[in-house]
Amino acid sequence: MTILVTGARGNVARALVGQLLDGGHEVRAAGRDPGGARLPGGVEVVAADLARPESWDAALDGVTKAFLYAGTAGLDGFLSRASGLTQVVLLSALGADPASDDAITRAHGEAEQAVRDSGIPWTFLRPGGFAANRLLWARSVRDGVVRDPFPDSHSALIHEADIAAVAACALTSSGHLGAAYALTGPESLTVRQQASVLGRVAGRPVRVETQDLDDYRRELTAAFEARGLGSVGSAEVIEARIRRLAALVDRPQPTTQTVREVTGRPARGFAEWAADHAGDFS
Ligand SMILES: NC(=O)c1ccc[n+]([C@@H]2O[C@H](COP(=O)([O-])OP(=O)(O)OC[C@H]3O[C@@H](n4cnc5c(N)ncnc54)[C@H](OP(=O)(O)O)[C@@H]3O)[C@@H](O)[C@H]2O)c1
Repeated sequence: MTILVTGARGNVARALVGQLLDGGHEVRAAGRDPGGARLPGGVEVVAADLARPESWDAALDGVTKAFLYAGTAGLDGFLSRASGLTQVVLLSALGADPASDDAITRAHGEAEQAVRDSGIPWTFLRPGGFAANRLLWARSVRDGVVRDPFPDSHSALIHEADIAAVAACALTSSGHLGAAYALTGPESLTVRQQASVLGRVAGRPVRVETQDLDDYRRELTAAFEARGLGSVGSAEVIEARIRRLAALVDRPQPTTQTVREVTGRPARGFAEWAADHAGDFS
């Protein structure tokens, strides 16, 4: 049984490939630029772009299950070619809803709907904010000043390894079909608290300054474009993100126990994520 993991360069996909290999499973990693994916040695890698039908056969040949990203152009067409799969695990987002006014939850809800419509048995992973978003602060932490428009905004950031661990369980054990897992980290921390954790890892104090919203918009747009995610960085999505951050000022984000319930081990805290990525911040 070969499991296809698409989006090989992605934080979650890379962690998932490693965990599936460690568990002795047959994995095929697929990405638009598989050479740039920094994958574990020994994994089968194919070049595939879900927006390019000519690349689908190489990805799907002999595969029974697949891990897919919701934000991927070409998802609908790929799903119709992949109708023989016995399971798709879709990386979606907390609150996904095709009828939502919020551009982020609506886009993820539409991707979930496409998977439902495909008739392929599914499992949806619905994480909240990723701890990996803080990699955008790497240079700021090294410089000792983090700039953010909402320093007192909370988030219960989740480690990409925990999302991958839930995905690995869903793909390799029974009882996960039709489940939509809401996933968060174990604790809600403000931007100031997160910066302080990263400062400890970097071995230097980190100050937080309130950032002008237009600066923030420009920075986020540039960061998305640099990662080839121009559509994710659309103005509507950025405004949705700003509204969410503002809504969580001085309000802890509720956490879920789903990582523990599915994997049997507690979700990793932000300090553990920071330690795992210490090299990026120091
Ligand atoms: N960041 C958050 O706080 C957050 C919160 C909730 C949900 N999410 C979801 O998680 C995603 C980010 O996950 P991540 O951090 O693991 O990924 P990432 O590092 O941002 O990379 C995005 C992935 O999308 C894949 N992709 C995009 N277009 C594709 C296409 N046409 N064909 C094949 N693959 C394509 C890329 O694959 P390649 O290897 O081919 O480039 C890449 O792996 C977001 O897009 C969102 O849907 C994020």
